[in-house]
Amino acid sequence: MDNQTETTVGRHRKVILFPLPYQGHINPMLQLANLLYSKGFSITIFHTNFNKPKTTNYPHFTFKFILDNDPDDQRYSKLPLQGMGAFARVFLFNQIGGDQLRHQLELELLAKDEPPVSCLITDSLWHFAQSAADSLSLPRLVLRTSSLFCFLVYASLPLLDDLGYLSLSDNNRLEEHVIEFPVLKVKDIKKMAFKRDNDAIGEAICNMVKQTKASSGIIWNSFKELEEPELETVLRDIPAPSFLIPFPKHFTASSSSLLDQDRTFFPWLDQQPPNSVVYVSFGSVAQVNEKEFLEIAHGLEDSKRSFLWVVRPGFVEGSAWVEPLPDGFLGEKGRIVEWAPQQEVLAHEAVGAFWTHSGWNSTFESVCEGVPMICSPFWGDQPLDARYMSDVWKVAVYLENGWKREEISSAIRRVMVDEEGEDIRERARVLKQKLQVSLKKGGSSYESVDALVAYISSF
Ligand code: UDX
Repeated sequence: MDNQTETTVGRHRKVILFPLPYQGHINPMLQLANLLYSKGFSITIFHTNFNKPKTTNYPHFTFKFILDNDPDDQRYSKLPLQGMGAFARVFLFNQIGGDQLRHQLELELLAKDEPPVSCLITDSLWHFAQSAADSLSLPRLVLRTSSLFCFLVYASLPLLDDLGYLSLSDNNRLEEHVIEFPVLKVKDIKKMAFKRDNDAIGEAICNMVKQTKASSGIIWNSFKELEEPELETVLRDIPAPSFLIPFPKHFTASSSSLLDQDRTFFPWLDQQPPNSVVYVSFGSVAQVNEKEFLEIAHGLEDSKRSFLWVVRPGFVEGSAWVEPLPDGFLGEKGRIVEWAPQQEVLAHEAVGAFWTHSGWNSTFESVCEGVPMICSPFWGDQPLDARYMSDVWKVAVYLENGWKREEISSAIRRVMVDEEGEDIRERARVLKQKLQVSLKKGGSSYESVDALVAYISSF
């Protein structure tokens, strides 16, 4: 973990990393940066003002602002700061950022008295970075912050669209399995909520896939044994090498948290019996309306299980925080916080289940700690992660019908109380064990780190 020994080798080579400015993307990129630093590389991080990382937590890195430095530039200064609207920056910078990135990279390449630049590593969604790097003959690797399975589904969006899945209006077909991805149901594809035409997200994904395939290598926050069939397909279809590295097992994401993490509940959590608390968090972007929020609250209460619930300010549309909750809701059973040190919570022996929105970081952090999941995905990769965890590895219960208090309390009890929950917990434990084995010398994850370091050193 964080106290991993550094190599004593001098820092002869520099790596420039450029994360997408969202929590679920910043965390794995800074975990990767820490890992490369621990292997002897000098680290420079390019970042936007919007959601800028907590630079003071990384005195050993050099940080450089890029893309949104001009507060008077109306193209981005007027964009929303919260919710999906904030994502418009990604589309905009992909359109207009090329020259600036190229210029900034040139400065790095020409810098005197600094180690030479080995390569650029960007988030895969910064697809515009490929041509900037190509124009300078600088190798660009991508960090893909979702699963391999998700990438393969995204890469098939044009096909899935041609087959009519994205625009399907026949509700009778929702439970059918998708022939091209048999693990998925038609409703999972619908729930991703993508269109191919006139849709900025759909377009960004198609460009992301194209430029990921054109990159010099792909780094995934995963491990071989978790997604072996998908890895075979990736290796067959993409010439660039792939490196699967389980970042949460190397460094925690706490130091890159954009929000302050509450730790005041730990004395309470420490007093709870093993596997007795359900941890509830829906990530850094998702929002619910007030009615849905109250269903979540009643579902938790009706389950009669203890809970630790992260309610991010702004999670409930139209509310600053938890105002819609009925008086006396918490009682003795629960704690609500604005933001938590999630990995530490998942590693706590009192935590018996994670009710999650199935963002990839959350999903994978749960896998890393062997914690069974209850999945309530919103969109994008989340329904794919939920299906994979519930139907492939069977370490999760998928709440497929939205926010209904009876179904919520029943799912919590299935995982926490019923005999079925014991089997789910055992499978989660076995999966965690596979991961531990992969981290040992000679294991797939261990070898992947060595291969990545050797590859970057070879440029
Ligand atoms: C987004 C998308 O929703 C997700 O589907 C995609 O895979 C990545 O980008 P987000 O919604 O924030 O990310 O979810 P997730 O990927 O789970 O990342 C959340 C991160 O925030 C995790 O690393 C988690 O540990 C951290 N977190 C969450 C905290 O540190 N504290 C909290 O209280 C909650």
